[in-house]
This record gives sequence, structure tokens and C-alpha cells, in this order.
Amino acid sequence: MPSTILVGGFFGDEGKGKIIAYLAKHDEPVVVARGGVGPNAGHTVVVKGKEYALRMVPSGFVYKSARLLIGAGVLVDPGVFKREVSSFGIKGRVGVDRRCGIIEEEHIAEDKGDAHLKGKIGSTGSGCGPANAARVFRKSRQAKDVKALAEFLCDVPQEINEALDRGSGVLVEGTQGFGISLVYGTYPFVTSKDTTASQMAADVGIGPTRVDDVIVVFKSFPTRVGEGPFETQMEEEKAAELHIEEYGTVTRRKRRIGEWDAKMAAYSAMINGATMVALSGVDRLDASCRGAKEYEELSKEVKDFVAKVEHDTRVPVKLISTGPELSEIVDLRGFK
Ligand code: IMP
Ligand code: MG
Repeated sequence: MPSTILVGGFFGDEGKGKIIAYLAKHDEPVVVARGGVGPNAGHTVVVKGKEYALRMVPSGFVYKSARLLIGAGVLVDPGVFKREVSSFGIKGRVGVDRRCGIIEEEHIAEDKGDAHLKGKIGSTGSGCGPANAARVFRKSRQAKDVKALAEFLCDVPQEINEALDRGSGVLVEGTQGFGISLVYGTYPFVTSKDTTASQMAADVGIGPTRVDDVIVVFKSFPTRVGEGPFETQMEEEKAAELHIEEYGTVTRRKRRIGEWDAKMAAYSAMINGATMVALSGVDRLDASCRGAKEYEELSKEVKDFVAKVEHDTRVPVKLISTGPELSEIVDLRGFK
């Protein structure tokens, strides 16, 4: 810790939710804060066989003592938020910045109906694009204007910076991925905001000088949902042969699957200012590594791949996820 930002290095769905949940349980941060766009993101967390799908609430909720915060930059869908608060039983420890932008029914209708967003770029239809547009036009409501959110309102930057002043651990959870950044991604096939670590810091209100670590998560086989260029995409038949088909958490759409993209990984590690890489899905390279917790348990194939990722990104690989379950991870950060 003390302040760590975690982001996706490819096109989203790199397994951020699982890594965040592991870090929250293992490192015991006082605060887990979420940056990113909004409920277009879906994170999956598996704890002791039980699967949780989250769209609004930080994946760090699995660590029961953490204060859970949604940063001011994030869009809130009050309905989705309230449902998650009650189904995960986190009322009393979750806070929403009073300045969060609000997603209205009309934004969802616009996102789903609009021939450009849903049809052309394949948006998730969660209302994020139109809500961010309304925010830029200065006609959006903020969280403080929504009665149903009154009991959750707080000042996220104040809480986080005070926690850092005390030397407490703060984990910032990014959403989406580098390739769908509005600024650095494959425009126009992108989400409605930047998705890099600097944006996540801004979303939760910590200045660049207060960030200690940036963990960029890469998937061994990158995936992309929705439209847009995907240079290393493989034939569907090949993905089927490898048994690595996937479906989206939010939209249930089939994800396109690709090979490791060295060039993209290097560029994304650079712009994110990565200090560590977390690599997910190595069990797909070699099923014998499923569930491994020690580096020695990994096969030569996987160890060679880890070395390649370090060579390509010029960043040390410190976390290696070997399966969906929270505990299926090799942690090389050198403290237990
Ligand atoms: P929007 O963010 O819903 O407007 O969708 C814009 C594009 O970003 C579409 O291609 C979506 O599939 C993609 N996208 C948005 N959020 C995520 C995510 O969390 N994971 C993966 N793709 C996403
Ligand atoms: Mg996802």
C-alpha cells in the first residue's frame, strides 16, 4: 500500500475485480475507493465458490472493515447502487461523493435507443455516455440532488487524503481498460471518459504526488466486448479449441478474444505509469497452473510467459492470477 491505484491495461475485463478483492483481503486497506466511468463496468468476484457481480460498489467490499467510497468523477445509477448496497449488506460503510453525476432513465433510454452509441460502437446501454454528455453540458443532477442517496453522501477526497495523512492504506479501483479510454483508446469505439491511472486519481480526488503504486492488470488472452479494432483478435474457432470463451458481466455479450499484444501492453504500462503488473488468466495458457499460489508451482511455459510480459512492459510482474477464486493467486510483492 499506502496508496495504490489499479487499472485495466487492455480493453476491460482483465480480472480487476478479483485482484482488487484479493488486495483488499490481504493488504487490509482502510479505504477502497472506486474511480472510473460508472455502472457500464462489471466486476466479478468469487469468494469461497460464491460469485458476486458488481457494477457500482467497490470490489473491495469483501474486506469487511474497509470503508467503501465512490469517487466524485464516477456516474451513479441510484437504482443499481441501492440494489447492490442491500444485496451485499454494506449499508453503513459505503459512501458516495456528493458531486457524483447521476444517470437518469432518459440517459439509459438514449444509450439503448441511439443508433450511434448502441448500434455503431456497441455501448453497454447503461446510460453512461449520455449522462457524461449531460454533465459536460452542465445540466446533470449530482448525487446531492437525489433524495435516495442522502444517507450515503460524503466528501471522498477529504476522507481519502485524511486516511493517507494517517499513513493508512488506500486502494483505488479503476474500471474499464486502456483501449477504451476516450482519450487514448480506439476512438470512436471507446467509453465516455479517460480510463488511465491519472483519471482514477482525479476521480477520487488524490493528487499525482500522493500515488505510491500503479498496478496495471493484463490478461494473458486479452478480450474486447462491443465494436472496434482489436489487432490481435483470434478466430472464434481457435478460442473454442482453447476453451477460453467468455461472456460480458453487464451485457452477457460474447467477448472477442485475442492473443497477447506486446505493443499495446508496453504503451499502456507507460501511460499508466505502472509500477507493477498483475497478470490474469495464466491458467488458460496452461491448465496445470490452475489454483497455484507459489511461483514454483507454475510450469515453464507460464514462467516464460511472465518473463516475456516483464520484457515487453519493462515492469515487474508482481501478481499472477491462476483462477477466478480470490485465493488463486501468486503474490510476489515480497511481504505476507
Ligand atoms: P459505454 O461505456 O457503455 O458507452 O460503451 C462504450 C464501449 O466501451 C463499448 O464497446 C463497451 O462494450 C465498452 N465498455 C464499457 N465499459 C466496459 C467494461 O467495463 N468492460 C469492457 N468493455 C466496456
Ligand atoms: Mg468487466
